Amino acid sequence: MLHDTQVTLSKRILAHLGADTTDLSRDVAYNDVTAFTSPERLAREWENLFLGKPQYLGLSCRVPDPGDYLTNDDLGVPILVARGKDGRVRAFLNVCRHRGARVAEGCGKGKRAFVCPYHAWSYDTAGRLVVISEQASFGHVDKAAHGLRELTAAERHGLIFVAPRPDTALNLDPVFEGLDEDFASYNFGNFHHYATRKTHWKMNWKIAIDTFLEPYHFSVLHKNTVGPLLFPNLCIVDTFGQNLREVFPRRAIVDFRNKPESEWNLVEQSAIVYLMFPNVVIVIQIDHYEIWRVYPANGSVDEVTVYLEFYIPEPAGGEMAVEHWRKNMDLVMRTVETEDFPAGEGIQAGLLSGAQNRVIYGRNEPALQFFEKTVMNAVGAASLASE
Ligand code: FES
Ligand SMILES: [Fe+2]
Repeated sequence: MLHDTQVTLSKRILAHLGADTTDLSRDVAYNDVTAFTSPERLAREWENLFLGKPQYLGLSCRVPDPGDYLTNDDLGVPILVARGKDGRVRAFLNVCRHRGARVAEGCGKGKRAFVCPYHAWSYDTAGRLVVISEQASFGHVDKAAHGLRELTAAERHGLIFVAPRPDTALNLDPVFEGLDEDFASYNFGNFHHYATRKTHWKMNWKIAIDTFLEPYHFSVLHKNTVGPLLFPNLCIVDTFGQNLREVFPRRAIVDFRNKPESEWNLVEQSAIVYLMFPNVVIVIQIDHYEIWRVYPANGSVDEVTVYLEFYIPEPAGGEMAVEHWRKNMDLVMRTVETEDFPAGEGIQAGLLSGAQNRVIYGRNEPALQFFEKTVMNAVGAASLASE
C-alpha cells in the first residue's frame, strides 16, 4: 500500500480512536433470512457470481515455472491450470478428449506432459494432444483438433483468474476495481506458498464471507485469540465497485501519535482485508498473506467449501522458520475453525429454524451491509430494508 494511503487511513483511525467512533453506515439494515436459506436465491448466485464471473484460483507463485500446475473442482467443472513452456498460464477443462478421464490430480511441478492415467493419451503444457498411445491400432484421430478444451485465464498482480465456462472472455478490470494501486505494492506473485487448508462447513457461503467483515465481534467471540491484538468495533471501510477494503487497526497503532508520519507503517499495525467480490478475502498481515476463498458446496444453501492459502515472503527453510509459520497458521486456523466458523454454523441452523424472518446489520457493520447489498444487486434481489 502506498505510504500516502497508509497515512490517510491512519489519520482516519486516529480520529476514530480520539472520538471513540468507527466508520458507520447511514442506517441499521435488515436482511431477510431467505438470503441464506433459499435454494432459488443460491441458484442465481451460483449462476451470476460464480459461473458467470472470473474466478481466482491461486497466486502466480503456486505455478511459477513451466510445467507447474494446479487443479480445482469447486466450480461445477474440473479445471486444470498450467504454466506453459512459453511462461503463459493457461486453464483447461481437466478432461481427456479420448473418453473423458481426468488428466491431472492435485497440484505439482515441472510436468513435461499430462499423461492421462486411463490409456496414456498425452497433452503438453499448452494443452495440445501430442501422443495417442497405440496409435496404429487405435486408428486415425486428428490430434490438432483434440487438445484439452481451453478456458480463458489471465494473471494480474500475481493473481490467477479463470473463466469457468469455455469461450468466455475474461475482463479483469471490474474484478480489480479500486485495488490495482494497493495490489501493485504487495508483490503477490513473488511470495511463496506455505500451505493450503481446505475445510467444509454447514453454512451458507455468504456467512463465511460475513465473518471477515466486521470487528464488532472481536472482543467477544475472539477474546481468547486475536481479540486482544486488535481494537474491537473500529474499522475503516472503503468500497470500490463491488470490492471493498477494510482496515482493522492493532492496538499498538496508538504509537503513531509519537512518531512522524514518515514512519507510520499501517501494514505493520493493522490487518488489512480486501474483499474481491464475491468470494475471495485477502488478509494482509505484517509478514504474510492469507487468502480465503469460499464456494457454495453440493448446490446446497447450507454447505460451503473454504480454502485458506497461506503465503510467506521467503521459502520456509530450516526448522525455526517452519515452526514460526506453523504457529502463525495455527493461530489463524484456531481463530477461524474454533470460533468464527462454528459460530457461522450456529447462525445457519438458527436461520433455518424459523425463529425470525430477518437479521439485523448495525451501522457499525458497514462492510457487511455493503457485501450483502452488492450480492443482492448482482442477482436482482430486493435490497436490504432500512426498517
Ligand atoms: S480416457 Fe484418457 S486416454 Fe483414455
Ligand atoms: Fe472473526
